[in-house]
Formats: sequence, C-alpha cells, structure tokens
Amino acid sequence: MYLLHPARLLVATLLCLSLAPLVAQEVTDATRAKDSRRVKALLRLENVDLETLPEAKASLMRHLETIHGTDEFLELVRRFKLKAANPELIRLAIEKGDETIGVEAVKTLFDFGANDAIEKELNGKDDARAVKLAAAMGLAGDPRGNELLLSVIGNSERSVPVRSAAVTAIGRNKAGQEQLLKLVEAGTLAKELNFAAANVLLSSTDAAIKTAAGKHLTLPATADSKPLPTVAELVKRTGDVAAGKQVFGTIGTCIKCHKVRGEGKDVGPDLSEIGSKLSKEAFYVSILDPSAGISHNFETYTLLLADGTVQNGILVSQTDADIQIKTADAIVKQFPRDEVEDFKKSTVSLMPADLQKALTAQNLVDVVEYLTTLKKQN
Ligand code: HEC
Repeated sequence: MYLLHPARLLVATLLCLSLAPLVAQEVTDATRAKDSRRVKALLRLENVDLETLPEAKASLMRHLETIHGTDEFLELVRRFKLKAANPELIRLAIEKGDETIGVEAVKTLFDFGANDAIEKELNGKDDARAVKLAAAMGLAGDPRGNELLLSVIGNSERSVPVRSAAVTAIGRNKAGQEQLLKLVEAGTLAKELNFAAANVLLSSTDAAIKTAAGKHLTLPATADSKPLPTVAELVKRTGDVAAGKQVFGTIGTCIKCHKVRGEGKDVGPDLSEIGSKLSKEAFYVSILDPSAGISHNFETYTLLLADGTVQNGILVSQTDADIQIKTADAIVKQFPRDEVEDFKKSTVSLMPADLQKALTAQNLVDVVEYLTTLKKQN
C-alpha cells in the first residue's frame, strides 16, 4: 500500500527518468567490448531482422554512438538500413562533402528515400550549409538528386550562391545536364545563373549537349575577344606566379579592393591567406562569377536616398541615427537615416562581374597561380 502511493510512484518514475541518461552515458569498458563483439557477430549473419534481436540492436546503437563519422559507422548504417541515422548522414554530407565518406552519405540518404531531409536542408535558412550539401550532391553525381536540385534552381526566393551551387551540382551527371539544357533552351533559366550553366554545359563530355548549349550560352569574352575557356579547362593550366602578382596589382585592379600582406585596399576580404582556403576551381568562380559565392560579411547593401540616388557598398555600421557603407572605391560614406528611403541587402557582389574583359585567359591563370601561393605563414 505504502509503496504504491501515487505520489511515491511519481517520485520513483521521475527519479528513473532523470537517472536514465546518466546511466546510459556510463558505458563501461566491459559493455563496450561486449557491444563490439555482438556487432561483429551480427555482421556475420545474413538477412538479420534487428527488431527480433533487441539486445543485439541495443549493442549496435551503443556502438554506433562511439564511432560517429567513421567509415565503419557508414558501413553499419547501410548494412542495417538504420534510417534513424539520417541526421548524422546529412551532417556528414555537409561537413565532409568533398570526401568519399560525405559523398557516400549522400548516396545512402537517397537509398533511404530521405529526400525530405535533403530538401529541408537545401531550403533551410543557412545558405552555407545548403551550398555545401548541393556540392556534395554534385560530387555524388547521382541523378536521384536532380529533381531536388531543379526545384532549388527554379526557386527565385533562394540566394544566387545556393542556386548556382545547384546548377553546378546538377551539371555533374548527364541526365542533369540534359535537364539543365532544357531550361536553357526554354529560356526559363534565370540570367544570374548563366555563368554557372555555361560553365557546366560547355564542358560536357557529351558533344551533343555541348553543341546545343553553345547555341544559347557563351562564356564572357576576355581581353583578346576570345570567349573564356571553361573553369574545368582553366584549372588544368599552370600559371606564372610573378606574372600573376603583377596582374593583381595592375590590369586586374584586384589591389583596389583587396589587401595582401598589408598592401592594397580593404573593400573585399583580405587575401593574404586565401590560398589556404580556396581551391583553384573556387578561385576562378570567385573571380568570374562573384555573385555566385558572396563571402560572409561582404554582402553588398543598396541604399535608395531621398533625392533618388542609389548607393551600393559593404555595410560598415548602422545605428538608429545613420548607416555607413564602404563603396567600391574604398570610401566610407555616412548617411543619416532620415535621408535613406530604402536599405536592403543586394544579391549582387560589389566585386565587378566583368573583370575578365581586361584580362587574357593567361592573365587569369597567372593571377590564380599567384593566389594559390598566398598560404598561412607560421
Ligand atoms: C571593386 C572591388 C573589387 C575588385 C576590383 C576585385 N574584388 Fe575580389 N572581392 C570584392 C568583394 C567585395 C568581395 C567579397 C564579396 C564576394 O565574395 O563576392 C570579393 C571577393 C573575392 C574573392 C573571394 C574571397 C573569399 O574569401 O572567398 C576572391 C578570391 C577575389 N575577390 C579575388 C579577386 C581578384 C583576383 C581580383 C582581380 C582580378 C578581384 N578580386 C577584384 C571586391 C573586389
């Protein structure tokens, strides 16, 4: 009677509930060894139904907790079709999307029919995560992702970097190239995605796709009036570092906006250590299609002033009284709030999209070669 008193029962239940996580965390070495043995045994069985083996399943789940993010983790998740691991697979795809394990995670998500989870992330608030996931989907080259990527490409609410990443990703499998080509031929691809589309379609290994795309898309012309080679071709070339440094400081005009080791102006990011951050491919895209990958904190803001003029610049500060922006000429300008009619983030980078007009392909290859040498110094 005494033991069954409802209040006592409640206390006892609460105690158990609150202790449960503590107990679960305290996995002893002995348990760990047992779990590992059981998992090995499980792996030797064929057609196991985990639901009929609760103890083995518990061991497996505990074991998985200790090996997050490893090849073994992925192998076990695949082998036992553990859909509960979907969030971890998404994390792997985003954080290790340029490694085999991240790419395998993407394929596993498709095997598990986890399109909703992928879609949620692609349409999520965090653009950087969406861009990384799209890139991993591209490397997976799996046409099962094409519908998801197409919906991102066609969604004008999504940012240009996310949509450009989706274009690049879908262009990494042939079915995707054909779908992208259809949009181009129908004239329904947004023009801010033309560079990304031209880049993938004009480097297609399928001659028919390449020719058809060439009727609608060209890469921008360089200083010698020749169209740019695709990024895929540019990355194969090797440039001259000293010549590249020269281009950076002169005809490239890069130095008007970027500092390298104390020299230059700081409209855009300091590039002193950029070689540790970006790949050659990313360099070409940053230079040739700046709006496809606007760096955090360097978004352009557009101000419409009461007198009808428009000012663009990087946001320096904003208070109740005024807004300060830095223009492309590296001048900081201050505007009282009551002179500003409209103030919003722009989807266009402050970095000019036509820098290649003053450069030859060789100038570009040289400048990128130079940038790759700008590494972290000890
Ligand atoms: C008018 C100013 C301007 C000029 C000129 C300019 N940039 Fe930029 N650049 C920016 C701004 C602003 C950003 C940041 C926004 C963005 O990512 O597009 C940027 C971003 C970059 C990035 C990406 C950096 C990162 O951290 O991801 C690279 C690389 C770069 N610029 C290289 C160059 C090179 C090379 C040249 C010359 C050929 C050049 N820029 C000319 C303004 C400029």
